[in-house]
Amino acid sequence: MTGSSEQASANKCLLEVQGVSKRFGGLRALDGVNCRVSEGRVSAIIGPNGAGKTTLFNCLTGVDRPTGGSIRFLDREIAGMASHRIAAAGIARTWQTIRLFEHMTVLENVLVGCHCRGRCGMLGAALRLPRHYREERRMRRAAMDRLDSLGIVELARLPVGALPFLQQRRVELARALVSEPRLLLLDEPAAGLNARETIELGELILQIRDSGVTVVLVEHDMSLVMEISERVFVLDHGTPIAEGTPREIQNNPQVIAVYLGVEA
Ligand SMILES: Nc1ncnc2c1ncn2[C@@H]1O[C@H](COP(=O)(O)OP(=O)(O)OP(=O)(O)O)[C@@H](O)[C@H]1O
Ligand SMILES: [Mg+2]
Repeated sequence: MTGSSEQASANKCLLEVQGVSKRFGGLRALDGVNCRVSEGRVSAIIGPNGAGKTTLFNCLTGVDRPTGGSIRFLDREIAGMASHRIAAAGIARTWQTIRLFEHMTVLENVLVGCHCRGRCGMLGAALRLPRHYREERRMRRAAMDRLDSLGIVELARLPVGALPFLQQRRVELARALVSEPRLLLLDEPAAGLNARETIELGELILQIRDSGVTVVLVEHDMSLVMEISERVFVLDHGTPIAEGTPREIQNNPQVIAVYLGVEA
């Protein structure tokens, strides 16, 4: 987020965050955050608890309205736009705490994610027009394809609440991906996973990137961050303090100081 590096400009810039701030009363959760996310990469945002990582995702997805600054996605200003419009523009996310409908099946949960791409509308559904059924069939096919690509198509008819944690994470990914986003934001996807599951998740994220979706993850699991990210941004108390490759970040004295809680 700070400075600039030639490496980041090699690919097309998909998302550009400039001077974004967010205040909650007297608290500056974000204070002049800048970052450029290149298309086709995995980038990571790290920082201690309360650094503002989730707030930044909330500003990017219209959950929170930034107090100041600009957010450009595909050369279009999206700061302050409603979340359903941002979703339709091509940004999808998962949440820090799993947000699935436990009593619904895997397929039904994924179909929730199709909503923002629906073309038929409420009236078509209410009148049961033929195109509504065509649309529904198309959505189910898309949802099943996503489940298949994430290796859980055989779970489609099971209630989500009965599944192990990693499988629930996969359902969340399927739900986010079924809207065919250009940019996927993952808020602590490895939380609650063991080491082996975290490696599996990393492979899954790279597979998603290879399918053409740009990924930004917020993550505390440094092994995952260092393994799969090409670019790492560091936030501390809402302020960007470093940006670089995983190796540069690992050796940055200011970052080390923030994580160890000592003066640089
Ligand atoms: N809706 C809100 N109202 C008031 N304060 C908030 C709100 N959301 C976040 N904050 C505050 O903003 C700061 C940044 O919070 P945020 O959740 O973005 O941090 P984070 O980096 O995601 O932390 P963690 O790693 O623990 O998830 C914290 O001090 C938090 O208490
Ligand atoms: Mg958070």
